[in-house]
Amino acid sequence: MRIDIVSLFPEFVDQCAAFGVVGRARERGLLSLHGWNPRDHAEGNYRKVDDRTFGGGPGMVMLVEPLRRCLAAMRGADPVRPRVVYLSPQGRRLDQAKARELAALPRLALLCGRYEGIDERLVQAEVDEELSIGDYVLSGGELAAAVVVDAVARLQDGVLNDAGSAEQDSFEDGLLDCPHYSHPVEHAYGTVPEVLRSGNHAAIARWRRQQALGRTWLRRPDLLEGRILSKADQKLLDDWRQEHAGDAPDGFRGR
Ligand code: ADE
Repeated sequence: MRIDIVSLFPEFVDQCAAFGVVGRARERGLLSLHGWNPRDHAEGNYRKVDDRTFGGGPGMVMLVEPLRRCLAAMRGADPVRPRVVYLSPQGRRLDQAKARELAALPRLALLCGRYEGIDERLVQAEVDEELSIGDYVLSGGELAAAVVVDAVARLQDGVLNDAGSAEQDSFEDGLLDCPHYSHPVEHAYGTVPEVLRSGNHAAIARWRRQQALGRTWLRRPDLLEGRILSKADQKLLDDWRQEHAGDAPDGFRGR
């Protein structure tokens, strides 16, 4: 997969994607990143990329022309048409389903704003979709772009050593992940649950599912709202809740 980063600081995203799983994906040739700086397409001695906002108010807005030329150069660098995603707090919230959708594309372009954002005409003309990584404001889209690159890179075929591990992630089936343990079995901080050491794969799967359901109910009840659980899942959750009576999440009415 090819990802193009359009940013005043493309090296920032490049550095974020240099380590661990994403770095390995790039080394293996499963992912390529290409940075594009609108300042390289700005004119004049100052290579101006921003100006004051019409209508008054604080902050600067990124200009149409340097970005338009930068995007044209970016689009022309490869015959595959990219999906152009603008990172902004006004976008739809990124989730695992969206990460999967983006990961399946051959080419993705991530457009990062700075200052108060980008002139809306450029957004209307060039952007396919706006994405936010959460309800808070960052000083630029670069960190958000790095988040998208990471979420998308680890879903590329051949990136994770254990092919099943992406499927077992939190959110893949709309639930939080279960807890995980490793050596030693006994530690001053506690003991690894017996069932995980039993070798009984059906019992382990049941325990993990129950933990995932229970944690989701406790920590992110919004993920369960409106969801019809299977009989087996409902029983697992009911049993978990009985065991954890008193752990009810704030403001959640129970089901
Ligand atoms: N740029 C600034 N804040 C952002 C956010 N929350 N998500 C995506 N891009 C952003």
